[in-house]
Amino acid sequence: MDRRHFLQALGASTSLASLPTWAGSNPAADTADRWQTDFDAARATTPWTAGFAGLQADVPPLALRLRGRLPPDLGGTFYRNGPARYGLGGIRYHHWFDGDGMVQAYRIENGGITHQGRFVRTSKFVADTRAGRPVRPVFATDLPDTEPLNGPDAMNVANTSVVRIGDDLMALWEGGSAIRMDPQTLETRGPKTWSADYEGMPFSAHPRVEPKDGSLWNFGVSSGPGLLSIYHVSADGKQARMHTLKVPDIGMVHDFAITQRHLVFLMPPLVYDAARSQAGQTFLDSHVWRPELGMRVLLLPKDRLDAPQWLQLPAGFVFHLGNAWEEPNGRVIHLDYVHSDDAQAVFVGVRNMMRGHLSPTENTQVARVTLDLARGRATQQQLAHASEFPRIDPRIVGSRHREVILAERVDRTMPRPGWEAVMRLNLDTGAVDRYSYGPDVMAEEHIYVPRTDRAGRPVEGQGWVLGTALDLKQQAMLFSVFDARRIAAGPVAQGTLARVMPLGLHAIFTPSA
Ligand SMILES: [Fe+2]
Repeated sequence: MDRRHFLQALGASTSLASLPTWAGSNPAADTADRWQTDFDAARATTPWTAGFAGLQADVPPLALRLRGRLPPDLGGTFYRNGPARYGLGGIRYHHWFDGDGMVQAYRIENGGITHQGRFVRTSKFVADTRAGRPVRPVFATDLPDTEPLNGPDAMNVANTSVVRIGDDLMALWEGGSAIRMDPQTLETRGPKTWSADYEGMPFSAHPRVEPKDGSLWNFGVSSGPGLLSIYHVSADGKQARMHTLKVPDIGMVHDFAITQRHLVFLMPPLVYDAARSQAGQTFLDSHVWRPELGMRVLLLPKDRLDAPQWLQLPAGFVFHLGNAWEEPNGRVIHLDYVHSDDAQAVFVGVRNMMRGHLSPTENTQVARVTLDLARGRATQQQLAHASEFPRIDPRIVGSRHREVILAERVDRTMPRPGWEAVMRLNLDTGAVDRYSYGPDVMAEEHIYVPRTDRAGRPVEGQGWVLGTALDLKQQAMLFSVFDARRIAAGPVAQGTLARVMPLGLHAIFTPSA
């Protein structure tokens, strides 16, 4: 795509980014707005709602109370991002993903852990705060009297993930720019522009880092014009190569994977419909479930981004992929992802959660996929674990992996949303190494941190699993460190943070220099 056509398409993107159902499945569509009063009522009787009460202000540094002994070779900062301000001025958003992002830092240093949280000062956060009510449109709540949008970043909430590039910590959201922050103070520096042509273009929340050189691959979906942009950024963030291709019937794509030679996308049949957007639907409700398309698989050779190959799986929905790798002949790719039958939970379950109502548990399961490039055939096998947030050892991203770390729901009858356990799943044997926090604890994503010796050299095959959880009985957050080879043995060290934080999304760990 040349520059002229690209800019035309970008123009279409921003005009349609007045952004915007499952037809008829928006529970807000025909009811008065009772989200705030319903949630307030549920707070009194329903303990799990503590994780979704939200915050209105930054939280200052606070030390955790430590049990056990932190590994002496583990030092650095665990950052987590997630929606944390769920409205203001008496208006409560109807969807978890609408909330303004807060980046939290758990710093491990001098044998202790301290915690701090700051909202990302996006232009939306600043404008809403100044007005005392939401004045910018959001992902999935139909708000009254909002300002016209002048581009995707006008509604950027920077609430999904973080990545460290060069001197910046970047707060990520999939519909607009990465937002640069100071890794130490968590002060917001402003949107990252990779080139003038790509100013304000979507930069997804799920970049993948090449272990061999630290360079970063990412993508962005521009729903209006149906564009998929690919980014390849050097480890220091100073050089970026971009490529954009047109994708028919493009939909919601949240994550992807890399192999030695390919980028791999799973495209669920939740397809953007511009007519719905123009009719005033929210961005989420401008998407239509079209199972006849199946789950399309797009393969892009890293050295031929203009040479896509398409395969197809049965229809299903996906947020997250674990990892992908290819056999030495380059003709077969293996990957795993978290599968659900449809996107109902995104439209209904997550909305009801924000008013303290419980929906039937969504059946997310790990699926293993084999892509036969020569025959153009894709097959999959589902494993019976209700789980989410797959993470692997970052040293083997894009290479042969056997294990994945997941947050798991072991007891499917628990009357609350979310996960109570962390597990290491062997994809080859099905073996599980699991620790359950129990029914009163809501686990967030746990991540794999490679182990280094005292000289900072990597120790092959060894690592820590780090993660946070909300303890509903103690009204506290738990920060746990597990030996990745013995998760079932329980945390080797655990810090207790004497305050409740909103449940968040993705985390990273950056070792101290
Ligand atoms: Fe995600």
